[in-house]
Amino acid sequence: MALADFIQQLDDISSAAKAAFDAAADSDSIDVARIDFLGAKNGKLKAAQKGLGSVDKADKPEAGKRFNEVKNQVEAAFQAASDRVASGGAGGAGKSAEIFDPTLPGKRPRLGHLHPITQTIDELKDIMGRLGFSVADGPEIEDERHNFEALNIPADHPARDPLENFYLATAQKSQAGPLLLRSQTSTVQIRVMEETPPPVRIISLGRVYRPDTADATHYPMFHQIEGLLVDTKVTMADLKSVLRLFATSYLGHDVHVRFRPSFFPFTEPSVEADMSWNDNWIEFGGAGMVDPNVLSAVGYDPEEVSGFAFGLGIERLCMRRHNITDIRDLYKNDVRFLHQF
Ligand code: PHE
Repeated sequence: MALADFIQQLDDISSAAKAAFDAAADSDSIDVARIDFLGAKNGKLKAAQKGLGSVDKADKPEAGKRFNEVKNQVEAAFQAASDRVASGGAGGAGKSAEIFDPTLPGKRPRLGHLHPITQTIDELKDIMGRLGFSVADGPEIEDERHNFEALNIPADHPARDPLENFYLATAQKSQAGPLLLRSQTSTVQIRVMEETPPPVRIISLGRVYRPDTADATHYPMFHQIEGLLVDTKVTMADLKSVLRLFATSYLGHDVHVRFRPSFFPFTEPSVEADMSWNDNWIEFGGAGMVDPNVLSAVGYDPEEVSGFAFGLGIERLCMRRHNITDIRDLYKNDVRFLHQF
């Protein structure tokens, strides 16, 4: 084919395509024109490209260049038509003006909300606040004195096994000796009593860490609420009534609390506390009378004062309340799950 004929053919396609895209008023007619001119199988440009093979060898570079120019023109015409239809017609008049309805309600921003564990923590603070307990805080990175020694957990106690705790690699450098992520909020009992003379009446809520493999009921990080009351003449009966009031307030109906004998190095006697929930006994944490060794370790006189302490798992309380059966769901950060609470 002669070069002139080939170019003439291209020019015809170019003007026909421009006319077709300019005339197209909606996306359907744009599509018809697109298939007609740019279709990969039977499009007019594709057909013209085939003619390129029969152009004289010497004219091929020129022919190829013209072909590419025209292809770009047709694609630009297609793009212009698509943009025009998408924006609702020439100059923004017509279509877009017709469909704008000022009476439609606006789009509301989606509101975030508090994580179920945070909600539970707030509620527990509220309940215990009404019973006269104030909130105390302690660090999550602790030394062995606060996590163990002052709590009457001696050096050879299995609870101090490195396999049971997250010791920090930088620990050697610390003046306080090895450091670890606290394994219990009982650390805060010591921190508070070191700083304040009796009486004390505090709760502390926060994260604790244990190297457990995650499953439906275990997670290497979870939350505890610690309670501590030290005063003159505090008895086990006070402990039981506080826990009963606590459980009753949290569940919203009268609850029985049961003590089973247990052992913790920092309480004597020690108990596991259960509460009745829908006719089942549910274990909700450990408790007991503060061991005299602990009182002595913080400079209190065990002859003068006595106290009780308890430590409950917050996840467990939250999961029971909401019928959550797998603790891992709380920490996957899946908004579809979290939005339910
Ligand atoms: N610290 C204990 C635990 O983590 C719970 C506890 C706290 C028991 C206070 C008695 C008194 O298991």
